[in-house]
Amino acid sequence: MKTAITELLGIQHPIIQGGMHYVGFAELASAVSNAGGLGIITGLTQKTPDLLAKEITRCRGMTDKPFGVNLTFLPSFTSPPYPEYIAAIREGGVKAVETAGRSPEQYMPALKAAGIKVIHKCTSVRHSLKAEQIGCDAVSVDGFECGGHPGEDDIPNMILLPRAADELKIPFVASGGMADARSLVAALSLGAAGMNMGTRFIATKEAPVHDNVKQALVKATEFDTVLVMRALRNTERVLRNKGVDELLQIEREKGALLKTEDIHTQVAGVYPKVMINGQMDAGAWSCGLVVGLIHDIPTVKELIDRIMSEAEQIIRRRLTGLLAGTNDTKPARKVVRER
Ligand SMILES: Cc1cc2nc3c(=O)[nH]c(=O)nc-3n(C[C@H](O)[C@H](O)[C@H](O)COP(=O)(O)O)c2cc1C
Repeated sequence: MKTAITELLGIQHPIIQGGMHYVGFAELASAVSNAGGLGIITGLTQKTPDLLAKEITRCRGMTDKPFGVNLTFLPSFTSPPYPEYIAAIREGGVKAVETAGRSPEQYMPALKAAGIKVIHKCTSVRHSLKAEQIGCDAVSVDGFECGGHPGEDDIPNMILLPRAADELKIPFVASGGMADARSLVAALSLGAAGMNMGTRFIATKEAPVHDNVKQALVKATEFDTVLVMRALRNTERVLRNKGVDELLQIEREKGALLKTEDIHTQVAGVYPKVMINGQMDAGAWSCGLVVGLIHDIPTVKELIDRIMSEAEQIIRRRLTGLLAGTNDTKPARKVVRER
């Protein structure tokens, strides 16, 4: 399948693995790239630019295919040394960067001078248009369903993607709620040139996280995520657990007066506890509504191959069949639950 995204990034399949804190290490990024997608190392999980340089070298040792780095510009008290992180990306020969959070505008000259393709992740059409205007090569349009930070507009992808298609000239991928071949074909129908998946990639053999996390994703349903930190205008969709229930209780008590310090215990330093130690009740960690569609833990290659072959079946058999009047309503695959 050739799309504007496969051509832009030099990849085989129009599937990107979004940056994920304490998940996007070389093991996962290289597995996605080796399977024909674009794997992404999460830049800021590496505590210094030097460590990011080492992670890029490690990833290069595991794949000869293109991979990218995520740079997240979220509000934080001590701003990371972004120019040095960009230098590590440039010197590591990485040719694609996924930016997220605040606008990457001030860093565009440095990224473009290094010949790096910039995919900015946005949760609204207005931010996508701004990304186009400042010279981003593509956007990742992140709908309300997404794991992580969906912004404050609450527009799901069924509306957001066609709105983006109507306004954007640069290509975009659909992000948020993407899990399988049905997601990919739907995203393509709505105008996207591919899809970006976060949560789905955590439940794979190669994702370098504690097995408790993968089992929790397989067990959870679409009713098990919740939005937190809305009062701080830093909304995040997370998987519900004991720490998150405490957080929700504090939010109810403080209401509009909530401050970041009030929920420090439930949000700070949670990722290593969950992803490395498997402490599932530690607090808030991002997880998408798509968790309701995750029923197994395949290898990354099995997942991507399955998506591509079933997408072909949906397009050739079901969609073309509808036009031919054969009205094939059978699903491309019977879902097998590993519960
Ligand atoms: C555990 C986890 C950690 C994430 N960390 C980041 C991050 O550090 N930076 C970022 O830009 N996006 C982050 N995301 C968002 C993903 O890159 C992606 O946009 C999102 O997961 C897409 O929605 P989905 O989970 O429904 O596929 C994270 C998502 C998850 C599930």
